[in-house]
Amino acid sequence: MNSMVKPGRRARLAFAGLQSARVAFYGTHYLLARLLAGETVQPRTRRTHPLPSRAELLAAIGGLFAQDWRNVEEGLYLPQLDWRAELGLARKSVSYLRDVPKVVRRQRHNRHREVDPKQAKLPNYYQRNFHFQTDGYLSERSAGLYEFQVETLFAGTAGAMRRRAFVPIARYLKRRGSEPLTLLDVGAGTGAFLSFVQQQCPSLATIALDLSEPYLARAQRRAVRRGQQTQFLVGPAEAIALEDASVDIVCSVYLFHELPPAIRAQAAREIARVLKPGGLFVLADSIQYGDAPGFDGLLELFPGLFHEPYYASYARSDLKSLLAQEGLLPMHVDIAYLTKILSFEKVPCGQNA
Ligand SMILES: C[S@@+](CC[C@H](N)C(=O)[O-])C[C@H]1O[C@@H](n2cnc3c(N)ncnc32)[C@H](O)[C@@H]1O
Repeated sequence: MNSMVKPGRRARLAFAGLQSARVAFYGTHYLLARLLAGETVQPRTRRTHPLPSRAELLAAIGGLFAQDWRNVEEGLYLPQLDWRAELGLARKSVSYLRDVPKVVRRQRHNRHREVDPKQAKLPNYYQRNFHFQTDGYLSERSAGLYEFQVETLFAGTAGAMRRRAFVPIARYLKRRGSEPLTLLDVGAGTGAFLSFVQQQCPSLATIALDLSEPYLARAQRRAVRRGQQTQFLVGPAEAIALEDASVDIVCSVYLFHELPPAIRAQAAREIARVLKPGGLFVLADSIQYGDAPGFDGLLELFPGLFHEPYYASYARSDLKSLLAQEGLLPMHVDIAYLTKILSFEKVPCGQNA
């Protein structure tokens, strides 16, 4: 891992300034998008739980950033203060806002099959406009807007939530010392998390897997720009083109809620298969019912506003049992605002999970 110098007061102030600016910037884009949608978009699901108040949301966001900084102080990862990268992403503002009316039209008419017909060889469950986003996951244009859209949806907190998934990885790497290790990111998308992982631990061999060629192409361009070495695999999580017991760490960020239940179970099996005994699996995805009871109303609202056909089943699924069936022993759970991070260890052969 990178050797860390304890960050000083100046770094803490820069961190606080950057996070506040992000929340203000992406939060404003969220409100603008809602304004453009107006009253014409109504949730398609009935809510039985109340929504959290703005004060509760802001308090939870404050808690997320406070823990983010404590993790930096503990030396788990470097502070993220790359203003140039932030400005690069912020420049997508105009393209994002131009795209909003198209998303709203899809939302209003529940149109979620407007994807490139040339992609028909991809699984049927995947050929759709997830979140009603233009082109689904199937174009360069979509890949270019994706990270801005996610930050806007989460009002500037997505980066901090993803970083929390690195905590169990950092602890595991520390335990393994200087051994050469391989990490696989399943559903790596445009590589936001993997690039962060490589920044923290440049000696780690990494593999990015995703069904979207354009998303991985974007991840690859970023890796080249940053001088990071990664192997890119276009393919499904439910049939990973890697040998049994060939990787030390698998992570998956915001993938499981997008898989139909049967595919989710297959992906869990594949992850367990490619992981070495004693290896680590880190699953970061949406919180589920009961994880943060004041937020259960959001879990009902989300799939009713954004096209998320498998989210409702995900939000009630028993992830620990699903993975235990595959020999992955639950180790730790962490709630980072709207994200839950579960870590598992692959039980060595002959032992039961
Ligand atoms: C919500 S995005 C998350 C991307 C990234 N991990 C992040 O944190 O931004 C879900 C990703 O999973 C990919 N995906 C969906 N179904 C998949 C499957 N069956 N196999 C592999 N990737 C899949 C999508 O192409 C997309 O890039």
